[in-house]
Amino acid sequence: MSSYVTRKTPGDTSWFVHDRFGMFIHWGLYAMPARHEWIKSREKITEEKYDIYFKYFNPDLFDPKEWAKKAKAAGMKYAVLTTKHHEGFCLFDSKYTDYKSTNTPAGRYLVKEFVDAFRAEGLRIGFYYSLIDWHHPEFPIDPIHPRRDDEDAYEQSKDRDIRKYAEYMRNQITELLTNYGSIDILWLDFSYPDSRMEGKPWMRGKGKDDWESEKLISLARKLQPHTIINNRSGIDQDIWTPEQYQPQEWIRHKETGELVVWEACQTFSGSWGYHRDEMSWKTPEMLIHMLINTVSLGGNLLMNVGPTARGYIDYRAENALKVFADWMKYNSRSIYGCTMAEPEFVAPKGCRFTQSQDGKRLYIHLMEYPFAFLELKGLAGKVEYAQFLHDGSEILFTEGNSKHFSLGRLEGEDLLVLNIPHIKPPVIVPVIELFLK
Ligand code: GLC
Repeated sequence: MSSYVTRKTPGDTSWFVHDRFGMFIHWGLYAMPARHEWIKSREKITEEKYDIYFKYFNPDLFDPKEWAKKAKAAGMKYAVLTTKHHEGFCLFDSKYTDYKSTNTPAGRYLVKEFVDAFRAEGLRIGFYYSLIDWHHPEFPIDPIHPRRDDEDAYEQSKDRDIRKYAEYMRNQITELLTNYGSIDILWLDFSYPDSRMEGKPWMRGKGKDDWESEKLISLARKLQPHTIINNRSGIDQDIWTPEQYQPQEWIRHKETGELVVWEACQTFSGSWGYHRDEMSWKTPEMLIHMLINTVSLGGNLLMNVGPTARGYIDYRAENALKVFADWMKYNSRSIYGCTMAEPEFVAPKGCRFTQSQDGKRLYIHLMEYPFAFLELKGLAGKVEYAQFLHDGSEILFTEGNSKHFSLGRLEGEDLLVLNIPHIKPPVIVPVIELFLK
């Protein structure tokens, strides 16, 4: 059994640390301007101007069954959808707002269709819910709000009552956790209490006291005790969510130093929402490396897709999903049910290890393909059988020294030497599976 123990938390993370790989979906009105989901804030767009998107939102090609099939083929086991992003637009039929998909030309109840389609494919369901809301009339203007630079920002903002907004959130979370059956993840986003605006002391960021996070979370816990909640409401909960970077170590709790359950979230390119002209798409190698690196440090990967305004996944995202599908089809055994290898196993240069949580199998990911031999320290005498994971073909090995006349090594080194083919198999990252004694 794996010796790593993580901090105890209330939600049920047992399935999560097994499944390891999920799909993030950022979708909303911002898919129409198609230049980043923060467009309303970045370009300081007024309500009236932004309304044009609401007026014409019509994802006629939205077919969540297609999305779900693609996610499943990519090896993803769960999906987290933006039920509401910072722009405030709801993809669900909330009683508490008119600003929702059912009131657009789409006329559809998108969250419901998403839930049904993904469940039908056997995927677990997560709801992203933005704490930030740039549409709600009681949401005070702050340093990232679209109206922050208006001359009369103070006038516009001074009578807004964040308590009313906090109540609105509780009402909506109640809807989300009541109307769709079991919800596996609640992904709240985000807190920025230290944010300030120069010259405008009244304008400040928001955090747990503004969201009334204690109340919000105890409500969510009451409605669905098992739900995994992230920690972006400003109170530590079940999962830590590093964004757009690759941690170099298993994440630890700041105060206690305990290992925590974590999930890296990443984009295919530099935007979460559909971005037509964004060109920094990650290469197939980067994508597969991210997944392996993450699991090799005990984490999960939540890989984002930003569907188009017409509701389909564009060719670039589709290609990226296909990269995962091709690799996962044969190599998922080194991901599902796996975690960081025990400390006694140290990966050689250019390799990453994962280990099955029952401790019986060790996976060597060949990120840089070595030529002819792979020498592993500390593994001599511990391996019963070795094979490539993608085709189940035997990898021969010797123990002790690398027996090569040119090495001039001393006898008696404790090496396991894998004899690997000279030519890299046609797999982005080949994996060797070691069955431990
Ligand atoms: C950030 C961004 C947001 C995105 C999220 C995903 O908080 O504000 O646009 O949804 O990260 O992690």
